[in-house]
Amino acid sequence: MLDKTDIRKELRAHYDLEPSLELAAEMSDIHARMDRVMPMVDWAIHAPYVRAINILKKQRNAVILAHNYMRPQIYHGIADVVGDSLHLAIKATEVEADVIVQCGVHFMAETSKILNPRKTVLMPDMEAGCSLAESITAEGIAQMRARYPGAPVVSYVNTTAEVKAASDICCTSANAAQIVAAMDSDTVIMTPDKWLAQNVAKQVPQKRIVWWDGACIVHEQFSPQDLRDFREWNPGLKIIAHPECPPDVVAEADYAGSTANIQHWVEQERPKQVMLVTECSMASNISDANPEVEFLGPCNMCPYMQKITLEKVLWSLHTMTGVVEVDPAVAEPARRAVQRMIDVSRQAQA
Ligand code: 13P
Ligand code: SF4
Repeated sequence: MLDKTDIRKELRAHYDLEPSLELAAEMSDIHARMDRVMPMVDWAIHAPYVRAINILKKQRNAVILAHNYMRPQIYHGIADVVGDSLHLAIKATEVEADVIVQCGVHFMAETSKILNPRKTVLMPDMEAGCSLAESITAEGIAQMRARYPGAPVVSYVNTTAEVKAASDICCTSANAAQIVAAMDSDTVIMTPDKWLAQNVAKQVPQKRIVWWDGACIVHEQFSPQDLRDFREWNPGLKIIAHPECPPDVVAEADYAGSTANIQHWVEQERPKQVMLVTECSMASNISDANPEVEFLGPCNMCPYMQKITLEKVLWSLHTMTGVVEVDPAVAEPARRAVQRMIDVSRQAQA
């Protein structure tokens, strides 16, 4: 395994990666999408990587799927598709390119592989995990089934392929309430996010929802008092929370939704001041598209999402390493659980 210095040396032998204000100015159309959050001197460092990746991406016939929590230089600079977990999963079913580079966390790359078993899926950093995905195994699903016989298991997409394979259906934060409501059972098991489950329980009171004890390390850091303090300091502030936050935090918010729904809400409502109670990159990524909106609040970052850098994406595409594999015996039942989610979601929207 090469260390960072060797990787840098090898990349610099193949690509011109010197910081350049001249190149940054030439690529100002891309910078214009993140002008509010990225000084030109920083863009001068990123622009050579963005140029190299965008050229290499075409040579490799690759497509880059990026989650809304990616750094702005990835989100605006190199991504072909950006979105929440649901949008990325749906788009993964439509990919025509030979190679998918997943800018997000490992479970997202696994989902792309499950949906595209014959394509090469690259993960720029295999250690980009997720506290939710790490909180449960297939054995945990078996324990829940034993405790609540006959109840269907709805697993959040933030799970490994093995857990998806052991579940009846998946859900994301965008469709969790729809999926649970569509289950043909009074009791529904939701794994692994206890807070998402408790937020859904309020939206779908006709179901008895039981949950696993997992949580997102980013969203559980917010407290209701934080939100009350920010409101007091900024009268008129709108607060939007992600449903991975505890219910008492969501109760203090004006709206709760998936990252894509948060973006739509801001674009439609155009509040003067808004606090996004979610991963901090989200506000950076939508800031320029909403110039009249001021984004306030603490900056909680996901250490897993932030592992993905331009340098790692370039390395992965250059060497075609970081290939994600899923055992076909696991991939097939996991694909069924993901596909069922997509189908139920589409029916509910039709
Ligand atoms: P969504 O983008 O689906 O809302 O998910 C948030 C998240 O934490 C993904 O890891
Ligand atoms: Fe997992 Fe939370 Fe990071 Fe999303 S933000 S990847 S749920 S740890």
